[in-house]
Amino acid sequence: MNSTLMTLSYRSLARLRSAADDLQQITRGSRVRNAALNITGFLVFDGVHFLQTLEGPIEPIGTVFQRIMDDPRHIEVVPFDVKVIDRRRFADWDMHLFDQHESNLLAPDLALTDFSDFWLSCVHDRAARALLERGVAERHRVSLHSN
Ligand SMILES: Cc1cc2nc3c(=O)[nH]c(=O)nc-3n(C[C@H](O)[C@H](O)[C@H](O)COP(=O)(O)O)c2cc1C
Repeated sequence: MNSTLMTLSYRSLARLRSAADDLQQITRGSRVRNAALNITGFLVFDGVHFLQTLEGPIEPIGTVFQRIMDDPRHIEVVPFDVKVIDRRRFADWDMHLFDQHESNLLAPDLALTDFSDFWLSCVHDRAARALLERGVAERHRVSLHSN
């Protein structure tokens, strides 16, 4: 089926009751629902803010984003980089969660950075992906070293 793809990113301010439990619940549910709707992307949590990038067919993205905006586990949801795309940038990403540690590897001063500016400044080129992949590589290196 040939359906138009779009991407949508947002930044929000977390309002979690129990961070570990809430994050597990969010990512677990998201992976199942997103897979069924053909939505890919990733989620970053730096301990204070969320940043999420969604990619997929326009209609399901709209439905899911509406639910996300209504979710009391975060507030001040500010979308950016909303556009139609020819192909996915994160096709093989099933809502990987970059946790606080990984988020610090991606950008150590994330808490001090204007999240949307940071993202907008790099999301249009391959730097974004390189940064994210470095985060994953670092994580594996860290866990290898700690074994
Ligand atoms: C930061 C954050 C990111 C989320 N990402 C997704 C997502 O990618 N896909 C999804 O289906 N739900 C996601 N959710 C959960 C939705 O907000 C919502 O709880 C879920 O879709 C179930 O909706 P329902 O309770 O109305 O059925 C996210 C929630 C938060 C707080």
